Amino acid sequence: MSGGLLLVGASGLAREVIATGVEVAGILDDDASLHGTLVGGAPVVGAMDAVLAREERLLVCVGPSRRRRDVVARLRALGVAEERYATVVARSARIGDSSTVGAGSILLDGVVVTADARIGDHVVVMPNCTVTHDDVLEDFATLAAGVALGGGVTIGEASYVGMNATVRQGVRVGAEATVGMAAAVVRDVPEGQTWAGVPARALEVNA
Ligand SMILES: CC(C)(COP(=O)(O)OP(=O)(O)OC[C@H]1O[C@@H](n2cnc3c(N)ncnc32)[C@H](O)[C@@H]1OP(=O)(O)O)[C@@H](O)C(=O)NCCC(=O)NCCS
Repeated sequence: MSGGLLLVGASGLAREVIATGVEVAGILDDDASLHGTLVGGAPVVGAMDAVLAREERLLVCVGPSRRRRDVVARLRALGVAEERYATVVARSARIGDSSTVGAGSILLDGVVVTADARIGDHVVVMPNCTVTHDDVLEDFATLAAGVALGGGVTIGEASYVGMNATVRQGVRVGAEATVGMAAAVVRDVPEGQTWAGVPARALEVNA
């Protein structure tokens, strides 16, 4: 495989990945008006379907968790194998030796992961998040900047935790749930619901 990653999605997240200093060969995006332009200094080289004509390792840079999962499903349907995905950990991030990070995941600057945490596939952890002992971030989960998790927290598949939210130790945020900015989550958040506030409660948007 050639050097440099191929990013999927000419997004703000793609520019944040490029800003970590990782080598990027190009970006794929279905927006034809971007083809031939530079995004974050990297060339947009074609639509997503062009993935099979290329050899680079891949990283899906789509911020919203469920949309990222949809894009990975589409790439899988096109024949992209999971082994083709890279993992990007910014130089200033620190991952404890007993913790693991899956394929396709992105950990941006200043992220700290302590002991025995498990970060799944295609997870995005934005700058300055703190992931502590025994936390589990299931596939496609997203932590926005500044999130802090107590020990033994589970963040469910394709859920989204907003900027500067905090989660009490041992709590589970359900799959496809959303936690609002600055929330203090002290109880389990049911699957698919949106919770916010201090302490966090279900928002009316669930009704
Ligand atoms: C919680 C959130 C998902 C709700 O978004 P939404 O469904 O569009 O809801 P609205 O903005 O219409 O707000 C609905 C109500 O919730 C309140 N609300 C919204 N976000 C809130 C928050 N984080 N904490 C407390 N209340 C919040 C609004 O004030 C509004 O209250 P009202 O009905 O009394 O006026 C969103 O505000 C949020 O926090 N998203 C995370 C953003 C983020 O971290 N982005 C990172 C980008 S990299």
